[in-house]
Amino acid sequence: MDNVTIDVHVNGLDQEVLRAEIRRALLRTPRELPTKYFYDDRGSELFERICELPEYYQTRTEHMLLSTIADQLVARTEAEELVDLGAGAATKTRVLLTAMAKANRLRTYIPFDVSEGIVRRVANELVTEYRGLRVHGVIGDFLEHLEHIPSGEKRLVVLLGGTIGNLRPDAASAFLSQVSAEMTSGEYFLLGVDLIKEAKRLEAAYNDAAGLTAEFNKNILRVLRTSLDLDFEPEAFAHVAFYNPSDQRIEMRLRSTREQALHLQTLDLTLTLAQDEDILTEVSVKYDRQKAETVLSRGGFHMVEWYTDPEQLFGLALARKA
Ligand code: AVJ
Repeated sequence: MDNVTIDVHVNGLDQEVLRAEIRRALLRTPRELPTKYFYDDRGSELFERICELPEYYQTRTEHMLLSTIADQLVARTEAEELVDLGAGAATKTRVLLTAMAKANRLRTYIPFDVSEGIVRRVANELVTEYRGLRVHGVIGDFLEHLEHIPSGEKRLVVLLGGTIGNLRPDAASAFLSQVSAEMTSGEYFLLGVDLIKEAKRLEAAYNDAAGLTAEFNKNILRVLRTSLDLDFEPEAFAHVAFYNPSDQRIEMRLRSTREQALHLQTLDLTLTLAQDEDILTEVSVKYDRQKAETVLSRGGFHMVEWYTDPEQLFGLALARKA
């Protein structure tokens, strides 16, 4: 389609580098796996379904918040291009695109995501939904390929859904510095963060009754088994997720249900996991207003507005590149 351009950068990733990264993660204490491997097409789809679960309040709360503030956000930022880091299915982003279109400002949408299938599908949908819209998709890991964001003007960069939570605070600031380095002074950045709240509520969101989060968690093993030929058995692990109050984060883990030897040939590694030994697969750091402001300012942004819902479940921070 004429109005759609998609640049693919993931294939450039060196297999050796990926292997070394996974190897290092597995040898840490506690053992870890890099979170980004959740998101093959199946993982992205599972995540989309998680977003609709009754226990997972984040997506609908952020969606509602965005609907409330979209018009004022567009008026204030005067944005004509939307850069969507970790765009996924772009459900929430449509709220912003619609507000931009209504204000007669919408020119370009730049979804940045690891999942090529979803970006292509969404790009084609959006150019038929919004007349005259150009979509310039970037397929890549936004922790590594940020410099591939096409240059532009009057851009609003967004990182929604609490995605920043996957980074520990230091890494979050370092990442935000890279984002701000790609931006022009005065351009705006919108950051969505899940808020610190009662552990029970947080834990329910990561231990849903339907078991989708458990499936999602185990999917990382399928992805690694398929893409790197690693001998993980998803059935030999149990899903575990709990709130760690001292680090203010949810930790998602895969717990070995028995003692097992993993022959990870392509990593040149054999691991023995004890019964009940954990592999940390994801952290989801929770925020309050102050913490968001600090992380943003360390990343080269001024927070100019803070939005939250009446129950204070989720926060949106609007920031400007200093
Ligand atoms: C996409 C990182 C925001 O941390 O809540 C959902 C991912 N993991 N359920 C989150 C996730 C388990 C999600 N983020």
